[in-house]
Formats: sequence, structure tokens, C-alpha cells
Amino acid sequence: MFERILLAVDGSEHALHATRKAAELARLMKPREFRIVVAYDPIPLYLGEPNMQIAITNRKGEAEEVLNMALREVGELPCEIHTELLEGDSASAIIEVANTRKSDLIVMGSRGLGRLAGLLLGSTSQKVVAHAPCPVLIVR
Ligand SMILES: Nc1ncnc2c1ncn2[C@@H]1O[C@H](COP(=O)(O)OP(=O)(O)OP(=O)(O)O)[C@@H](O)[C@H]1O
Ligand SMILES: [Mg+2]
Repeated sequence: MFERILLAVDGSEHALHATRKAAELARLMKPREFRIVVAYDPIPLYLGEPNMQIAITNRKGEAEEVLNMALREVGELPCEIHTELLEGDSASAIIEVANTRKSDLIVMGSRGLGRLAGLLLGSTSQKVVAHAPCPVLIVR
């Protein structure tokens, strides 16, 4: 039913929970591919060199660490596993990957690293649910 599953993670507990559910689902569904994505904020140009390079390295490094954590949590799956590191607004990046990779299911947490207590659905989840080209599984 779902051949190309896209999991979006940000290093939060919510995303970890979503990761476990997505992996379980993939074990049952045996999709063709399972893709994990992390988006990081663009680095402002005004930083100038060499600060800009340092900021890029740090931000990419953190995002890579988030990807690796998710990969470890997912473990073995009966399909190809891909990872992607994206620069830019998280929701736009997730939607773009879902389009270009022809994902047929996006899995994500209801909340993320944001600190606004009481929010039911974070802004990334809201935007993805509103604009995704495929079904979205919001894990809470
Ligand atoms: N930078 C990101 N890269 C990939 N996935 C993300 C990213 N940020 C959030 N997500 C996904 O979206 C889910 C919900 O996070 P979201 O950002 O919507 O909530 P929040 O951080 O609590 O709120 P907000 O960001 O609006 O303050 C996360 O659990 C994760 O699955
Ligand atoms: Mg967030």
C-alpha cells in the first residue's frame, strides 16, 4: 500500500516516537524505500566568512547527528533506507522531498523541539498536513 515512506525528524522526543511507529509500519508494509529527512535553517549571508562556514559546519553536523540517531532507532528494515539533509524551511523542505521522491506516506511527530507549551500541532506538522501531496501520519 505504501511503497515510499518518508520520515521527518528533528531530534525531539515526538520525532523519536514517530520514528518507532514508522519503522514498525515499514516492517509490516515492506515498502520499496524508507527515507529519513532532517531540515536545518539556512545560514544568513550577513555572517560573512569564515563565520558562515563555521555556522554551516555546525548546523549540518547537528542535523547529521539527528539523522544518525533516527537511523539507529530504525534499525534493520526489509527495504532500502535513504537519508537526506535539507537546508531551508522544514515544512517546505519535507513537501519538496515528498514531491521529488514521490513519497506516498509522510510520518512525523505532532510536536517537535518548539517551546510553545499547549500547542496541539506544531507549525511544521500543520503546514505539511495542509500542503502534502500524499497522506500524512501524525504520531502523538
Ligand atoms: N527541521 C525539521 N526537519 C525534519 N522534520 C522536522 C523538522 N522540524 C520538525 N519536524 C517534524 O515535524 C514534527 C512536528 O514538529 P513542529 O516543528 O511542527 O513542532 P514544534 O517544534 O513543537 O513547533 P514549532 O516548530 O512550530 O515551534 C516533528 O516531530 C518532526 O517529525
Ligand atoms: Mg519545530
